[in-house]
Amino acid sequence: MLEYLYPLRTYLIVAGNIERPNPMTADWVVPLSFKPSMLGVAIGHTRYTKKLIDEQKDFVVAVPTIELLKDVWVAGTVSGAKENKKELMSLTFIPSKKVKAPSIKECAANIECRVVNQVETGDHTLYVGEILSVTEGDAFVDGKADIENYRFLMHASFGARFTTTAGDIIKP
Ligand SMILES: Cc1cc2nc3c(=O)[nH]c(=O)nc-3n(C[C@H](O)[C@H](O)[C@H](O)COP(=O)(O)O)c2cc1C
Repeated sequence: MLEYLYPLRTYLIVAGNIERPNPMTADWVVPLSFKPSMLGVAIGHTRYTKKLIDEQKDFVVAVPTIELLKDVWVAGTVSGAKENKKELMSLTFIPSKKVKAPSIKECAANIECRVVNQVETGDHTLYVGEILSVTEGDAFVDGKADIENYRFLMHASFGARFTTTAGDIIKP
């Protein structure tokens, strides 16, 4: 039933630490509050990322552009329980400012979150993260996504079908 919510934007959730970062692809990321700044991430119970977030209580939401699709696919199809995903990717992990979970240099933005609440929804846990710090690159101008020049990644439907935010700015 959830397929009717697609297309959805796609992100990388980074858990773990700088020695052993574990990036996981996630579509189910949702804004929750302006003040304090909060977002939610739904993580499946079988994910290695869940174990890491439960232990460390922090994570980073990294915002990829279409150029990173190959690595995004690896992060979303390989489990850190079996492989060190970092070795399979060309991404550069860098220290975050406020949390132990690292950021990704090549991503358009890195949103650092501390877990302040969690809700069991069924086969996923919704982690509520308070945003402690954000680092943005050139793909954002004054906090606004520069979609005329950068192609943010979107998941078109379940499975290996992606699209981008490239297109016109349309005003209501
Ligand atoms: C495009 C895409 C989006 C995904 N979105 C989510 C998501 O929102 N939540 C989730 O728990 N898993 C999601 N997954 C599945 C996980 O990324 C996948 O199971 C991953 O291998 C888990 O890695 P881990 O075991 O290292 O945590 C998605 C996968 C893909 C390819």
